[in-house]
Amino acid sequence: MFGFSRRQQWTLSSIPDLSGRVAIVTGGNTGLGYITVRELARKGARVYMLSRTETRALAAIDKIKGELGPELTPQVEYINFNLLSLKSAKQAAETFLQKEKRLDILVNNAGIMATPYELGPDGIEIQASNGTGHFALTVSLLPLLKSTAAMPDSHVRIVNISSFGYLFSYGGKPDFSSVEGLNQKTWSTWVRYGRSKLMNILLTNELQKRLIESGTTNIYCLAVHPGVVATELTRGPLQTWPFLAPFEKFARLFFVTPEQGALTQLYAATSPEVEEKDLKAALLFPVAQVKAKASLAEDKDGRLGNEFWALCEALLRQKVSD
Ligand SMILES: NC(=O)c1ccc[n+]([C@@H]2O[C@H](COP(=O)([O-])OP(=O)(O)OC[C@H]3O[C@@H](n4cnc5c(N)ncnc54)[C@H](OP(=O)(O)O)[C@@H]3O)[C@@H](O)[C@H]2O)c1
Repeated sequence: MFGFSRRQQWTLSSIPDLSGRVAIVTGGNTGLGYITVRELARKGARVYMLSRTETRALAAIDKIKGELGPELTPQVEYINFNLLSLKSAKQAAETFLQKEKRLDILVNNAGIMATPYELGPDGIEIQASNGTGHFALTVSLLPLLKSTAAMPDSHVRIVNISSFGYLFSYGGKPDFSSVEGLNQKTWSTWVRYGRSKLMNILLTNELQKRLIESGTTNIYCLAVHPGVVATELTRGPLQTWPFLAPFEKFARLFFVTPEQGALTQLYAATSPEVEEKDLKAALLFPVAQVKAKASLAEDKDGRLGNEFWALCEALLRQKVSD
């Protein structure tokens, strides 16, 4: 669970050559997303960093170029994207569609954790946007993902960064049938985080199911728990409980590095093993291990996943006028 794993054979150098492939990573300016962008670019992919803050994104791109060195000429571009706004997610997809004719790898990585209760610009609780924003981005890109999958020698992946924290959603009864259900105040902010990470898994399940039903069998959708990783994600808990600040430094001693944490999502996004082992709709824990889903995420009858999908579609129609 923490990300310290005995399976050390899959490392950053196991990532295959990605020349000619195009990738999107949301929230790529820091933490796990930053390493994901950097390592995909190192292997030759053209990578789009979808971030909410231009200055942070451009500084991160400069840093990546510096780290990779002049001989690699990494191709990394920024597109503005705010998870909290369904319109922004759709616009980010449209900007991308104007630039590219293929999309091989989509890593839905951006997120916040354990923030105080707040509604975003669409009237959606901000942690729930970890789920709804990525829905809007992904469905807007789905036609291109499908047409890329129809090209020769394609290896299309949709990777949703969840968390073992999806289990915190058991601290309440998830209701994704209405926006009121989505926005429910819970006894702990961790329950809302858990639900948002459950949404990431439900999106994975639903996407995989709907792709297969529509005849696309060679796109692999995966959900990933990266480990417990020393990133900026602790901004949320520190906002909720500022008195924890002195303990955070100590706690970080038990966290893995972003390089270690990003391994599982990079595996999901690039390893040929995903196809060899047919890891459709799999949940991966670190490093690159398939983990059985708990019943809420397994969602055997598909009810929760269907509800989540239908609600997101309705919200997208309401909040985004063409
Ligand atoms: N770190 C862990 O231990 C851990 C464990 C399990 C799961 N995860 C998951 O891993 C993913 C990456 O987190 P991280 O640990 O790398 O955290 P991080 O260092 O805080 O990075 C999060 C990224 O998401 C972006 N982001 C946040 N809100 C956004 C919004 N409204 N619109 C667009 N981008 C937004 C951030 O942008 P700014 O820089 O502009 O804020 C940042 O680029 C998250 O989905 C998280 O739930 C992390």
